[in-house]
Amino acid sequence: MNDFPAPAFAPVPGRLGPDPDLHAALLAARDASGWLRFDAFMQQALYHPQAGYYTRSSPKLGERPESGSDFVTAPELTPLFGHTLAAQVTELLQASGTQTVLELGAGSGALAEALLDVLPPHVAYRILDVSPSLRGRQAQRLARFGERVQWLEALPESFEGVILGNELLDAVPVRVVVRSVDDEPAWRERGAVWDDTANAWQWQDRPLDRALLAAQDARCAGLLDEIAPQLPPGYTSEIHPQGQALVGTLAARLKRGAMLWLDYGFEERTYYHPQRATGTLMCHRAHRADDQPLAEPGEKDITAHVNFTGVALAAQDAGLDVLGYTSQGRFLINCGLPQRLAELPQATAQERVASARTTANAHKLWAEHEMGELFKVLLLGRGLDATRHWLGFAQGDRTGALG
Ligand SMILES: C[S@@+](CC[C@H](N)C(=O)[O-])C[C@H]1O[C@@H](n2cnc3c(N)ncnc32)[C@H](O)[C@@H]1O
Repeated sequence: MNDFPAPAFAPVPGRLGPDPDLHAALLAARDASGWLRFDAFMQQALYHPQAGYYTRSSPKLGERPESGSDFVTAPELTPLFGHTLAAQVTELLQASGTQTVLELGAGSGALAEALLDVLPPHVAYRILDVSPSLRGRQAQRLARFGERVQWLEALPESFEGVILGNELLDAVPVRVVVRSVDDEPAWRERGAVWDDTANAWQWQDRPLDRALLAAQDARCAGLLDEIAPQLPPGYTSEIHPQGQALVGTLAARLKRGAMLWLDYGFEERTYYHPQRATGTLMCHRAHRADDQPLAEPGEKDITAHVNFTGVALAAQDAGLDVLGYTSQGRFLINCGLPQRLAELPQATAQERVASARTTANAHKLWAEHEMGELFKVLLLGRGLDATRHWLGFAQGDRTGALG
């Protein structure tokens, strides 16, 4: 996402308060003491069956706020993103001898459309998306590809091909942890309580149950033990057991082929750098960002940056190899985006205007101060040559930084 960094919201016209069903679900999800762990709050706010942000029928993705959208993603900026990504997908399909792409979280269908336009016609496309309204939008947009596109209701039990996720992992609920003032226990966990007087959700931290976390996710518990000594009291960040479990499950079910994850985030040592002391939680509405995830649940997107080391380790645990890791800018340049831009038709005045706009948007994708450096691309594979220089990672591969 690429937002104007300005907070402050006007109330949504016509909306008098929180959705009553979502509010009731949030209250019901609290524990006996009235506390709601943040990942459970985020789960309801984004995915409540009727009123969650991703379940509601609001536009969400689009290039500009005038469309009623909240944020823009790379495929929304220009189809050249998908056309360029297709070069890497084609290399992976050929090398694995497979012919199916599975996209997780396909948004408006923009990436699918761009890929299908340039992938050979025998390549089948599968989409898994939790949002009924976005599935409807995808179906409309992709109708011209007929039977090549099909929607899955759940993760496949077994899959051969290329799995893609662009800005999917940042929307998976995270747990928020806070370094304790005292050393015992080393961490507290952030949750929310409903304050009747203020008529609002408020943060409340509780001691982290380390034994329980270790039983649920030993790696996340080990990570917190490892980083605690270097971090100051009050240091706040996120852990991603749910996102990493999703990657682990998909990795286990990927029998042959590859996975490509594109998103904003860092490798672990940068993610948990002592200076990144307030975490990465961010909300998006009307192309503006704010850092108040407890306010107006269901009305805005809530995201956290991705810990790419955790993603890579989850996939490795399931037997996949890391085939490449780099910045989005480097990846797109390696895959030939500048050449594609140079080939845009310029014969007529109309073409020159279109080309200037595409060029400006394409620069956002690779410019370091826009999406080029913050966004990363991670390639994982099973049964593929781990020593090969895969197209998008041929120069500037940073796999070593993941460790
Ligand atoms: C930020 S949007 C990105 C959309 C698209 N990939 C793009 O780049 O334009 C996140 C997408 O992931 C979907 N989504 C979120 N969580 C999901 C999950 N657990 N499984 C499948 N789709 C999910 C949302 O409905 C939405 O389509």
